[in-house]
Amino acid sequence: MTPLTLDEIRKMECAGQLAAKTLANVGKYVRIGITTNELDSIAADFVLSSGAISAPLNYHGYPKSICTSVNYNICHGVPDDTPLKEGDILNIDITVIKDGYHGDTSAMFFVGEVSQEAKTICAVAAEAMQKGIEQVLPHATTGDIGFAINKYVMKNGFWVVKEIGGHGIGKVFHDDPWVPSFGKKGKGDELIPWICLTIEPMINQTAAPIKEFPIAGSTIKYYETEDKTLSAQYEHTVLVTDTGHQVLTLL
Ligand code: MF3
Ligand code: CO
Ligand code: CO
Repeated sequence: MTPLTLDEIRKMECAGQLAAKTLANVGKYVRIGITTNELDSIAADFVLSSGAISAPLNYHGYPKSICTSVNYNICHGVPDDTPLKEGDILNIDITVIKDGYHGDTSAMFFVGEVSQEAKTICAVAAEAMQKGIEQVLPHATTGDIGFAINKYVMKNGFWVVKEIGGHGIGKVFHDDPWVPSFGKKGKGDELIPWICLTIEPMINQTAAPIKEFPIAGSTIKYYETEDKTLSAQYEHTVLVTDTGHQVLTLL
């Protein structure tokens, strides 16, 4: 990625804010009995009526406007007609394209009352993301981010997903650098002022392998924990500034 111009940064701020607003809006509809397809159409309408485009739709053949990953689904869950049930946790992942620039954010939502273990994994995932964001400083590295995330997650008895990570973002949805949820301090790619990246660690309850599944008509895959234990994820789009960072998808 090359540093963004001031005009591009303004557009990234707008895209980030719209992604955050969309996520907050869709999140309000999460309740027992709603289907993820209904959440998908609520998000799709909200984004279109805001003069933007849902980035996932038709991205490498992906069929929906958002990703909804329920319980042991790690990421890229495809909305369908299954009603959500009490105790489910789900990640809703929103990416918008506004004025040609991407804003990408996700969060966990609870359906009715959820178990203490579900609350715990979500809290650890949220804090793991924060630990990563704290490392976003000019001339730090992606290894610094991954190290901080993995250290925090291990300390809490959970496991990071190593196969999938964050990414550079701007005009391009998934740009370099890759931002793994593990690493060594000082290694990986240097963070240059005025680039944007996503911090989006995926956290599992066990060290079980992850399983990859095809999505019909698409080259995107979705992922589940092999042992069907819970997985959680939060995501923000972050701008590297000359002194630190700015979280673009924070409302
Ligand atoms: N929003 C996801 C991310 O955080 C990517 C979804 S790609 C899709 O990178 F095709 F599955 F929508
Ligand atoms: Co992302
Ligand atoms: Co995302």
